Amino acid sequence: MENNVILGDSLQVLRDRVANGTVDLIYLDPPFFIDRAFKLNAKDESIGFQGGWEGVAETLLAKAISSGSGNSNLSRYVSFLHERIIELHRVLADDGSLFLHIGPTEAPYIRLVLDAVFGMQNHRSTITWQRSHPHNNVTTSLGNVSDLIFYYTKSRSFHFNLLYTEHDEKYLQNSFNNSDNRGQYALAPIVQEKSRKGHVYEYNGVTPPYGWRVKIEKLKSLDDEGLIHWGSNRPYKKIYLEGAKGAPLQTVWSDIHNITRTEIDRRHYPTQKPIKLLQRIVGLASTEGDLVLDPFCGSGTTLVAAQSLGRRYIGIDVNPEAIAITTERLRLGDANKGFFSS
Ligand SMILES: C[S@@+](CC[C@H](N)C(=O)[O-])C[C@H]1O[C@@H](n2cnc3c(N)ncnc32)[C@H](O)[C@@H]1O
Repeated sequence: MENNVILGDSLQVLRDRVANGTVDLIYLDPPFFIDRAFKLNAKDESIGFQGGWEGVAETLLAKAISSGSGNSNLSRYVSFLHERIIELHRVLADDGSLFLHIGPTEAPYIRLVLDAVFGMQNHRSTITWQRSHPHNNVTTSLGNVSDLIFYYTKSRSFHFNLLYTEHDEKYLQNSFNNSDNRGQYALAPIVQEKSRKGHVYEYNGVTPPYGWRVKIEKLKSLDDEGLIHWGSNRPYKKIYLEGAKGAPLQTVWSDIHNITRTEIDRRHYPTQKPIKLLQRIVGLASTEGDLVLDPFCGSGTTLVAAQSLGRRYIGIDVNPEAIAITTERLRLGDANKGFFSS
């Protein structure tokens, strides 16, 4: 399927226009339940839990969903997403991935829906995205500064490109605290720990009780290159700061901040997400030429990220204004205008 931006309800568009197993990566940032903007159409009123609830788990879930005031809406919200998640699972390629962006209130219910549709074994990670700096105006509750992003794959075979983030200043100071004429370096283990047996032999007068992590030939060549730190207690491998890849990406993302009011000129849509967030997701779970789908595309951030990284894209939104903004951002190649980095 070619690049496309489609006006319509994602359920209908997915059913009518997207074939089985054709999409490599899906990111969805649906309207949050607590978001007043989430309004069901009159025809959606009939949506409910189809097939009834059976068993203890279902009863507990039904009770949780219907507790509190106004939560009959929550059951409809869960059903609204459930129907679409089934379609998204259908259109995803066997080695494809889905990232669902959600707020903390709705997250537990939608996690269950995802487990039911994708299978718990296909849950890869739950990412916590710290979207803002601490709020100073909270007095009676904890400052809510994060959203969750559920990451699922359709199967155990999937695209995954490990990304690295810059080490933070404190980590650099604490870890890269040795230096020689080549520069600053950190210490990485070269001898085995108690829990694992390594290659036991004597080298340079040292025979570690659980052995070395590498064979003697490799150790010799590291030593010849000056890459072994012979400390007073035990030897280590040197990892020079220059050339270090950074830290492998973990599940807490606190290095990408949401678009703030001061960056209003860059914000085209109230719920617009930062391009860096989407570039990270697209970079992590797809390769060039892959097809990326966003069924709630809003201002088109996912599509712009896909475009900037050489992926194909499909975006769907019910709001004509969102479609117009998306089309314009794609035309301008927005990602390259000050947003793009790494
Ligand atoms: C949270 S916003 C997405 C923002 C987007 N990630 C961005 O960066 O701009 C959710 C979007 O879902 C759209 N939406 C709501 N119900 C929909 C439906 N049934 N089908 C398609 N889009 C829908 C809304 O119009 C809104 O633009």
